[in-house]
Amino acid sequence: MSAYEAHFRVWRGDQDGGGLKDFHVEVNDGEVVLDIVHRLQATQAPDLAVRWNCKAGKCGSCSAEVNGRPRLLCMTRMSVFERNETITITPLRAFPVVRDLVTDVSFNYTKAREVPSFVPPEGLGPGEYRMWQEDVGRSQEFRKCIECFLCQDTCHVVRDFEENKEAFAGPRFLMRVAELDMHPLDAAAETGLDRKSTAQEEHGLGYCNITKCCTEVCPEQIKITDNALIPLKERAADRKYDPLVWLGNKIRRR
Ligand code: SF4
Ligand code: F3S
Ligand code: FES
Repeated sequence: MSAYEAHFRVWRGDQDGGGLKDFHVEVNDGEVVLDIVHRLQATQAPDLAVRWNCKAGKCGSCSAEVNGRPRLLCMTRMSVFERNETITITPLRAFPVVRDLVTDVSFNYTKAREVPSFVPPEGLGPGEYRMWQEDVGRSQEFRKCIECFLCQDTCHVVRDFEENKEAFAGPRFLMRVAELDMHPLDAAAETGLDRKSTAQEEHGLGYCNITKCCTEVCPEQIKITDNALIPLKERAADRKYDPLVWLGNKIRRR
């Protein structure tokens, strides 16, 4: 295969507005979309803003949308597109633009801070934690997250309804709540923190209607919906309809 020239449309602008600009850029064998953006900077648009770091699919910085689909620019091979196809690169739609392909993802850091961290069991020191391998494996899947926020960007609950942002943590952080709720050593309940109730009442679990778009775009292939969100919904529902919990709540309300 030889080098060829491809047609790109790249969004340029800032918070005051912008639009798609056309470019023709050389493409070589084995290149990814981030290579093209770098060539564009080197040859035609030196002030084009793009966020990236590792170029290895591990830092989660280079998230953007390619032909409308949330993707990592460094992990999207040019070979997935037809040579005569126009390739459109735009910033993540769910977050405010800073400039060109760079968005302000601080919404996600706010949501991260709203999830209370792991509560260590009382009386156990570092090195004394013991867990079944099955429980370790469950957590490890969620720990593969590189915080690229592609799942947060694609979820229609915030993508299409800005007003939901306040109440909805998004798939990445509901997954974090699920991980902690499933953790056999998390002692949050002993401090009075019920993670299942907070998932519903504070992190907006009920807004998720299991469309699974988050799972489809996750570059780490984490089964966000099947392994985190649905089990969390089931556990929260069990909790709500548990007759002992119901009785306890009734007595407490008196
Ligand atoms: Fe990215 Fe997947 Fe983590 Fe979401 S869960 S932030 S898509 S790695
Ligand atoms: Fe959104 Fe994923 Fe639920 S895309 S609606 S969080 S399954
Ligand atoms: Fe690090 Fe793409 S540059 S994930």
